[in-house]
Amino acid sequence: MRKTQDLIPDYPIDLFSGGIYKHAILLGIGLVLFLLTQGCQNSHDGQASRDEQMQDTIRVVQYDETTGLVVADGIQLVKANCMNCHSPKLITQSRATKEGWEGMIRWMQAKHRLWDLGEHEATILEYLATHYAPEEGVGRRRQLEVEWYDLEL
Ligand code: HEC
Repeated sequence: MRKTQDLIPDYPIDLFSGGIYKHAILLGIGLVLFLLTQGCQNSHDGQASRDEQMQDTIRVVQYDETTGLVVADGIQLVKANCMNCHSPKLITQSRATKEGWEGMIRWMQAKHRLWDLGEHEATILEYLATHYAPEEGVGRRRQLEVEWYDLEL
C-alpha cells in the first residue's frame, strides 16, 4: 500500500531544503504576502465607503414604472391630479420654473377644466419645479463661485 507521503512529490521539499531557517523565511514571505493582500483589501473597502458617501451627495433619480415620473415627495398628488386628461409624458418632457408650472396649471384650469388643486397645489408645484426645472441646473454642476484675487508678481 502507498503511503500518503509517497503521493507528495519531493521537489518542493528539495527546493527549500536547508533546515528550519528556510521554513522560517517561507513563513515570513507568506506573512508579508498575507499582510499585503489585507492592505489592498482595506484600500478597496475605503474606496467603497467613499463611493457610498458620493451616493449621498449625488442625487440618485428613481423613476416611477408606470408613469416615468421622478419618484419623490409629491408624486402621489401628481399621479392623482395630472394623469386624468393626458399622458404623463406631457409632464416629463416639460421643463419650467415654479412660475412657469403655475402658468400651465392656470392655463389648463382656464381652458381645459382642470380643477382647483386646493391645498395640494403648493406640493404639486414644488414637485414640478424641483424635478422638472429648466434644463439649466439639471444634471449639471452648479456654477463655481470664483473668488478673484490679485496675483502678486
Ligand atoms: C382636466 C384635464 C387636465 C388635467 C387634469 C391636467 N391637464 Fe395638463 N393639459 C390638459 C390639456 C387638454 C392639455 C393640452 C394637451 C395638448 O396640447 O395635447 C394639457 C397640457 C399640459 C402640458 C403641456 C403644456 C404645454 O405648454 O406644452 C403640461 C406640461 C401639463 N398639461 C401638465 C399638467 C399637470 C402638471 C397636471 C396636474 C397638475 C395636469 N396637466 C393636469 C388637460 C389637463
